[in-house]
Amino acid sequence: MVKAVHVKITINGKPYEADIEPRLLLVHFIRDIAGLTGTHIGCDTTNCGACTVILNGKAVKSCTIFAVQANGKEVLTIEGLAKDGKLHPIQEGFWVKHGLQCGYCTPGMIMAAYQLLMRNPNPTEEEIRWGISGNLCRCTGYQNIVEAIKYAAEKMRGGA
Ligand code: FES
Ligand code: FES
Repeated sequence: MVKAVHVKITINGKPYEADIEPRLLLVHFIRDIAGLTGTHIGCDTTNCGACTVILNGKAVKSCTIFAVQANGKEVLTIEGLAKDGKLHPIQEGFWVKHGLQCGYCTPGMIMAAYQLLMRNPNPTEEEIRWGISGNLCRCTGYQNIVEAIKYAAEKMRGGA
């Protein structure tokens, strides 16, 4: 048995501490130790983006990061977006513009959009499509996802 490592990771503002195997992936820490199952696992091989979270301000695929690499850092997951029972504008955009069907890709897609809009509050359609190009959706054909992100961008800039 490999020696356990003690880690402390803050997720959505709340600290979680555990003794873990060094090989434990961040996505498993989030889902199995923190119990936050909104972050999905679609492939486990860095392809689909369903596991996307924000780690110290940067979108990462949490199936591609060891939990020990997030030790002492801050993670934002889909559960951390809504505030005071009010959806985040990106979540609202997906709701209003029907940006999902089965919803499996949605948490990762929203976190990728979150990073995109933090970096670029007024993206073109091409920039939106590039911004979510690491995230796969098997259902929607992407058009309504793009519309959802446009809606969110406008709302976050003070319009909509
Ligand atoms: S589960 Fe991480 S990229 Fe697919
Ligand atoms: S809504 Fe089903 S995979 Fe995107």
